[in-house]
Amino acid sequence: MRNSPAVELIDVTKSYPGVRALAGVSASFPAGTFTAVMGPSGSGKSTFLHCAAGLDRPDAGRVLLGGRDIAALREPRLTEARRRVAGFVFQSYNLLDSLSVWHNVLLPQRLAGVRPDRSWAREVLHRVGLSGREDARPAQLSGGQRQRVALARALAGRPEVIFADEPTGALDLTAGHEVLGLLREAVDDLGATIVMVTHDPAAAAHADRVVFLADGHIVAELAHPTADSVAARMTAVSTHRGPAPSASGATRHGSVPLAAAGGRRGPGSSGSGATRHGSVPLAEAGGRRGPGSSAATRHGSVPLAEAGDRHGPGAPASGGVRGGMTGAAEVDA
Ligand SMILES: Nc1ncnc2c1ncn2[C@@H]1O[C@H](COP(=O)(O)OP(=O)(O)OP(=O)(O)O)[C@@H](O)[C@H]1O
Ligand SMILES: [Mg+2]
Repeated sequence: MRNSPAVELIDVTKSYPGVRALAGVSASFPAGTFTAVMGPSGSGKSTFLHCAAGLDRPDAGRVLLGGRDIAALREPRLTEARRRVAGFVFQSYNLLDSLSVWHNVLLPQRLAGVRPDRSWAREVLHRVGLSGREDARPAQLSGGQRQRVALARALAGRPEVIFADEPTGALDLTAGHEVLGLLREAVDDLGATIVMVTHDPAAAAHADRVVFLADGHIVAELAHPTADSVAARMTAVSTHRGPAPSASGATRHGSVPLAAAGGRRGPGSSGSGATRHGSVPLAEAGGRRGPGSSAATRHGSVPLAEAGDRHGPGAPASGGVRGGMTGAAEVDA
């Protein structure tokens, strides 16, 4: 049985002047699954993540986050909805240097006007290996430690979904591997749902499935990714322009359940990828997942006032994706 989606995008479009960043994208992320989003630079990954998380407003389409259509929400309700459901981990950590580790971790709950759950905050700091560093300032920590604080911050609010944009992009291999392992644990042990943008096939191999974007379209999906299978698919995607080739089983307008998240662990693992609008499973079973690290992003910075809110750690997973395989988008690379 398939879990209900923690996040769902339906025919989402988003343009910037002269650029169609998302050209009618539909995707579904079942609760308790871990999805990586990959694609060439400029393909729309960050835009996709930001629209899914309520950090950006789509031009058209629906975004269901925790079952609620946030695309239609205006401030301050949008911020409230985001704080309630989502945690964020970004490449640049987005910690407040003036606050200790402890206060960084509690900040999103304080901003949300929620009484912080201190014992859970202690537990998540323990899980990320930072017990005893509560009083340290971010500047006194290594990059890997800072990102683990960011992950603890996301987890502290018990979000349904953690959105991560290049969470290992600034880390070395070992530190990146640790962060990816913690994200994986958040899914497997805590039932979180994770949507993670990465450039790194080895990082993507930690996920249950990989969704590939090109020119603002979802063009492929891979279940049970391995670093090798992801790299091979990325090479194909990088040379792709326009809508997905019909040979892959994609339909043109709409909705292809891409997923076959594979028999996943943790709550919400669904082996299926069925989606609402119908569908052709694009997924290809791969083999195993492995460690990895990821890359950089343009949208790495967010106002500090929202840093705790928008860029905290959390624990989610992924599910089925529908690719809006509509016409070609104009996307500047
Ligand atoms: N705020 C913005 N203003 C104008 N254009 C934008 C803005 N944000 C993104 N774009 C454009 O939209 C397209 C998609 O950008 P996006 O940041 O989503 O790509 P990406 O896949 O995350 O790339 P990268 O891998 O380099 O981070 C690009 O052509 C980009 O130039
Ligand atoms: Mg990006």
